[in-house]
Amino acid sequence: MNDKRLVKAAERIESPRLLFVRPALSDAAEILSRYASDPEVTRFVAFRRHESLKETRDFLSWSDAEWERWPAGPYLVRSRADNLLLGSTGLSFETPSRAMTGYVFARDAWGHGYATEALRTMSAAAASAGVKRLYALCHTGHAGSWRVLEKGGFTREGILRRYMEFPNLVPGEPADVYCYALIL
Ligand SMILES: CC(C)(COP(=O)(O)OP(=O)(O)OC[C@H]1O[C@@H](n2cnc3c(N)ncnc32)[C@H](O)[C@@H]1OP(=O)(O)O)[C@@H](O)C(=O)NCCC(=O)NCCS
Repeated sequence: MNDKRLVKAAERIESPRLLFVRPALSDAAEILSRYASDPEVTRFVAFRRHESLKETRDFLSWSDAEWERWPAGPYLVRSRADNLLLGSTGLSFETPSRAMTGYVFARDAWGHGYATEALRTMSAAAASAGVKRLYALCHTGHAGSWRVLEKGGFTREGILRRYMEFPNLVPGEPADVYCYALIL
């Protein structure tokens, strides 16, 4: 992080049930097996489903570069109860005051309110790191995801037509997305 005006986020954050940690190379096998290679989990995400450890390691290199350059980057989400890897979230900075967030959870972690708890935690971390606009994009057909954003206080600003590719859904075809934002 070269710009000394930027405030570094904590690399480890706790919420009532969850632990958020900066990813490390030693997490690769767990990330791959818990969620990144699962076709159902990755249907509505922007990254291509991982088929090998190399792809997961590439993600970890990118994560390190993000953490070096910006106040934060991806976080892995673990259960505080037993340290099980549940999923991933994070802050993807575009400028010192604008960042994007998102979340992906292993199938056995759905339906417990974890994504909502993660989103609230990321919103607080973003505010502490000086973010003024935190936003998220989600496929218009993915009601579970935008429900989480609405529970987290995000406002739907509009629809971006043919904006983003979902490589595991319809490769090569940009889809419509909703843009949600939280002003901090
Ligand atoms: C989408 C996802 C993050 C939700 O995680 P979660 O921990 O189950 O979310 P929460 O429990 O915090 O909240 C989900 C909310 O959406 C609702 N929901 C879930 N599926 C839904 C659907 N198909 N239609 C409408 N609402 C739905 C739930 O009922 C819940 O709302 P409620 O608390 O009012 O009942 C999770 O399913 C996931 O990781 N999916 C795969 C990756 C992904 O698609 N990520 C998002 C990319 S934009």
